[in-house]
Amino acid sequence: MSEKIKSIKVLKGTINIPGDKSISHRSVMLGGLADFPVKVTNFLPSADCLSTASCMRSLGVSVKRLGPTELVVKGNGLRGLTEPADVLDAGNSGTTIRLLTGLLAGQPFFSVFTGDPSLRRRPMGRVITPLAKMGADVRGRGNSRYAPLAIIPTGGIKGIEYVMPMASAQVKSAILLAGLFADGETSVTEPYLSRDHTERMLEAFGVKVSREHLTVKVTPPKTLTAPEHIDVPGDISSAAFWLVAATIIPGSKVTLKNVGVNPTRTGIIDCLISMGANITLVNQRLAGEEPVADLVVEAAELSGVTLEAEIIPRLIDEIPVLAVAALFAKGQTIIRGAEELRVKESDRLTTITKELTKLGAKIMETPDGLIIDGPQQLAAANCEAHDDHRIAMAVAVAGMASSGIEIEGAECVAISYPDFFNEINTLRQE
Ligand code: S3P
Repeated sequence: MSEKIKSIKVLKGTINIPGDKSISHRSVMLGGLADFPVKVTNFLPSADCLSTASCMRSLGVSVKRLGPTELVVKGNGLRGLTEPADVLDAGNSGTTIRLLTGLLAGQPFFSVFTGDPSLRRRPMGRVITPLAKMGADVRGRGNSRYAPLAIIPTGGIKGIEYVMPMASAQVKSAILLAGLFADGETSVTEPYLSRDHTERMLEAFGVKVSREHLTVKVTPPKTLTAPEHIDVPGDISSAAFWLVAATIIPGSKVTLKNVGVNPTRTGIIDCLISMGANITLVNQRLAGEEPVADLVVEAAELSGVTLEAEIIPRLIDEIPVLAVAALFAKGQTIIRGAEELRVKESDRLTTITKELTKLGAKIMETPDGLIIDGPQQLAAANCEAHDDHRIAMAVAVAGMASSGIEIEGAECVAISYPDFFNEINTLRQE
C-alpha cells in the first residue's frame, strides 16, 4: 500500500499517544507468569505486541481483549507455562523473539520460534551466547545466528554474571527473564544504560532486583506478586515523530498527552532541546513504576548537534526521525556510536540515508552513524518504507515539513503506530 502525504502548513492540537510498545510486550509476558489475573490498560494493539500476545496464548496463558486497548492476562503462575503445540511466530518483533527465548530457556519443554523475513535476518547469537552460558540449549539457523530457533530443555539452568558486548535492552531482558528460572542469582552489565522497563516491572511484580550503575542483578522468585493492574504509558518513540514535526513546521503547537518519560528513553527530548527545540513537560506523574507527562511542543529554530555512543541507547529508535530534524537544523549534525541501527527492522543507517536522498537531501552514512549538514531544501519524491515502520514515519515527517511525499509499503506503520496517518489529519491545519 502506498500513502500520499501533502505538505503541511501548520500542526495544531492535542493527541493521545498510544501505549508504549516495550511496556506492552512486558505486561503480557510478566502478567502471564503471575498467580492472579493482571488487567492491562492502554495496551498497544499493534502487530508486534499482538505477536507477543499470541505466543503467550500458545504457551497456555489466557490473554482476553476487553476493549481495543484493554486486556486481562491470566497465567498459571511462575511455573505454569506449557509446551506449545506448534511453532511460535514472533512476526516482525525482535522484542517478542529475544525476550521470550530468554523466558523459555529454562522451561522443561521444547519450543521453536520463527518470524517474518526481516526478523529471520536479525542477529540472535547475542541472546543464544549468554543463554548457553546459563546451561540452556538454544539452536538456530546459520550456526545458531538466526531464527528459526529451537529451545531444547536441559534439565535446569544456572545464574551467571554476564558482561554484554553491546547496550541492548532486549539482550539484557532476555537474560533477566531466563534468570527468573535459574539456580542462583543472575547479573548483567551493559556498556551504556539501555531502557529499564523489565527491571521496573519485575520489581513491581515483587521480584528482588538490585541495580548498581550499569549492572542489574535478579534473584529467582518463588512467585510473582502484585500488581493486578498495569496502565501502560504512551510511547515516547511514537511521540517523537510529532516532537520533530511540530518543531520543524513553523507556527505549530501540539500537545502530546500521556507520554512515558522514563529517563532511559528521554534521549530524544534532551537532544531536541539541546538543538533549540521548545518542549515542555507538564502534568508529570507516575503510571505504576513508570514516569509519565504531557509534552507541549512549539515550532523552533534548530542547530546541529553531535551525539556520541553513550546517549544512543536512550534514543535508539528515534534516530531516523532525528536525521529529519537535522536536515532542518542550522549547521552540522554528527551521530556516532549508532552501529546497532544496522541490525534493526532494516539497516536504518542505510535506509534512512537512501530515502532522504530521494527527497534531495545530502546526508552521509558512516560505519557507525550519520553526518548531516543543514538546513536543506527538500523536494517531493516517491520513497520506500523497506518494511520498517520507523523509516516510513520518519520520511512521512520529512514530507509533511517540505513538499509532500508518497511512501510505498506504508502499511508497516501498523507494527508500532497503527493510527499514525489518521493523526496527521487530526493535527493538520490547512
Ligand atoms: C526494545 C529494545 C531496543 C529497541 C526496540 C525495543 C525493547 O532494541 O530498539 O525497539 O523493548 O527492549 P535493542 O535492545 O536490540 O537495542
